[in-house]
Formats: sequence, C-alpha cells, structure tokens
Amino acid sequence: MADITWDLLETQVQRCQLCSLYKGIHHKVPGQGDRSAPLMLIGEGPGREEDEQGLAFVGAAGQLLTRMLSAISLPRERVYICNVVKCRPPQNRTPLPEEMEACRIHLRMQTWLLRPQVILLLGATAAKAALGPDTYITRVRGKWIEKNGVWMLPTFHPSALLRDESKKPLAWEDMKSLRQKLQELHLYEDIYG
Ligand code: URA
Repeated sequence: MADITWDLLETQVQRCQLCSLYKGIHHKVPGQGDRSAPLMLIGEGPGREEDEQGLAFVGAAGQLLTRMLSAISLPRERVYICNVVKCRPPQNRTPLPEEMEACRIHLRMQTWLLRPQVILLLGATAAKAALGPDTYITRVRGKWIEKNGVWMLPTFHPSALLRDESKKPLAWEDMKSLRQKLQELHLYEDIYG
C-alpha cells in the first residue's frame, strides 16, 4: 500500500463501480475531517443529506454527533469521519454484506493513511465491518477492543439515539469512556485540550 495517497483514495471512490450502489446516488461520500487526527469515527453509510452534499454526517444524525463530540470538548473538525459504504443505499437501507465487502478497500485505505490510534464505531454496521459479521452491537457496545494496536469502541449510531432516547445515557457513558481513553493515551490534552 506504499503508494496510497489521499488523492488516490478520493479518485478511487469517485470512480468506483465495485457494487451497484453508485447507480442511484447524487454524490459519493468518501469522508472528511482532520487527516492527522488520532481519532477516526466510522458510521454506516450516507443518508439523503450526505448524498446531496457529498459529506459524511451532515444531516440530523450528524448534528447530534457534533453535539456528542463537543460534550467531551472534541471539535468535530479535529476528528476524521467516514462510513463503511461511500454511496447512499436506497431508502437508507442497511448496506448488504457484499456492498460492505466491495467498499472495504476504501476503508482499508483510509485506516492505512490515517493510522488512527482510536476508532469510534458508530452502530452495528461499523461494528460488523471492523470486528466481524457475527458482531452484535448490543453485546459489544461500550467495550474497548484492541486490534493491531488500535483501540476501538463500538457505540450506538446517532440515528438510533434519535429514534430511541432511552439509549442516550449509555451513549453518554461511551463518550466519557472515549475521553478517558484519549487521556490515557495522552492524546486528549496534547491534541484536543
Ligand atoms: N448515517 C451514517 O451512518 N453516516 C452518515 O454519514 C450519515 C448518517
């Protein structure tokens, strides 16, 4: 992967026809944010507003995500945010396993380029993509998992919090746990403090 660059990633995503999702979209949504951030956030896939703007997490779920980050004093522009799939699935359905698999090359390029130390997995699709298809978000949520030196925390997807407010206290616990991990790794004060 030595010749991978952010420009190449962008070009690959824009040209990608590895699954059929590209057929029904307005814009590809590669992801955006601080390319030197130690913290990466991975969601599921673009929704309607993301598809219109070509940017990840700009709709209602994205606005909630911004508030969750600022609740632990993380400015959103200081993290890198992307999704498992870069094209909006029709009617916002969950991406199919073969669509996730086809798009995996882009997520791999992103993690290779960013080399994050901490990854927040937003929802079941991100947890399955990172931890395996048999992963259940209800079982792994809030538990830190270390893989190849990278710390990963599965949490609820912000859309799930919008649908079910009763999940918010657990999500808040996860955000505090994220802050603590960043502090332990000396990433919080140096970079976000
Ligand atoms: N939901 C996601 O998973 N990703 C987005 O970018 C927006 C909503």
